[in-house]
Amino acid sequence: MQKKKINTPRLIISEKLIEHNYNYFNNSIFSESARIFYSLKANNHPSVIRKLKSLGSGFEISSDGELEIMKKEKIKPELLIYSNPVKIPTHIANAYKYGIKKFAFDSENELKKIKKYAPKSGIFARINVANDGSEWKLTGKFGVTAGESVNLLKKARLYELNPIGITFHVGWNNKSHTAWENALNTCCEILSELKKNNINLRFVNIGGGFPAHNVNQYTKLNQIAKIINPLLQKIKNNFNVEIYTEPGSFIVANSGVLLVKIFDIIERNSKSWIYVDSGISQGFYWIFSGLQYNVIYPYKISKNKKLKKYVITGPTCDTHDIFTKDAFLPEDLCMDDYLIIYPAGAYISSAREYNGFGYPEIKIFR
Ligand SMILES: Cc1ncc(COP(=O)(O)O)c(C=O)c1O
Repeated sequence: MQKKKINTPRLIISEKLIEHNYNYFNNSIFSESARIFYSLKANNHPSVIRKLKSLGSGFEISSDGELEIMKKEKIKPELLIYSNPVKIPTHIANAYKYGIKKFAFDSENELKKIKKYAPKSGIFARINVANDGSEWKLTGKFGVTAGESVNLLKKARLYELNPIGITFHVGWNNKSHTAWENALNTCCEILSELKKNNINLRFVNIGGGFPAHNVNQYTKLNQIAKIINPLLQKIKNNFNVEIYTEPGSFIVANSGVLLVKIFDIIERNSKSWIYVDSGISQGFYWIFSGLQYNVIYPYKISKNKKLKKYVITGPTCDTHDIFTKDAFLPEDLCMDDYLIIYPAGAYISSAREYNGFGYPEIKIFR
């Protein structure tokens, strides 16, 4: 088969798919009434940002690095929320200076910091919710109980801050609608309790977690929407709040593929090793914690072609640099054949300086 020459490794992103995903999400989750703040950490490439900006998206950021990206792309501060609940003080000050007025928090310490570095800002409490059904749990490090969130939101006034919202994250790639259902019921309890204390919040932020990795994301989103949309309507009616969302993966995960080329094939220790020109240090660290990516042979496979089990390994000298130990691919794979690693649109290119936290400066002492 004649194969077109393409430079590799190459991460290929489809803007069309991003547009499709954004519109699909916007039409499904609370039918365009929910405000989307795309989670920048999922993919911060300028083209992705520009596409989403043109579609009317807001952005969720968490650090100075991400703020700088937003400034560069001229994203207005009104379109930004700062959802990292525990922030580096100078990062709060810089966000405030830019005009950001909405900050997540989950402790009294954070209220003190926000009062000092972003006085009179709006604050929203991160609550800890069950992450059952998710593939990557986001519990433990952040979030307070419903009761603690009420106490902290009441305390905000002591710090001359404005209690404006609550937020949660059900965990990455969560395929269970029950996670949102339970979290939203908790939000109702919090909103009722606050109402009794004359505190009326402006929004409920349902975070990210919408499934997009190795799943039919559109069918799954429909199932989730069917359950949560009536609940969101009830919350909006009863408490007069806006609904915010922070999808990351749903918007970008399936929009990207990594194209790699085979540069060696070796039979070793009773296994067939395929060496490709990019590896897990190029943003696929998530594999260390058990995430799985697909290795795809991008050409037509004839019916009578036999498949064989391969280990797909990257180019580094690190023995952990393995995409998968059981890829079933044609037995006659050759040097210079291309392979595709999928999905690669979310958390791969942005893993380089993840979440906007750059590498430390190096100081050599002599
Ligand atoms: C605060 C916050 N919002 C949104 C997201 C995006 O989540 P996802 O990629 O699951 O949609 C994340 C991801 O870690 C997050 O930490």
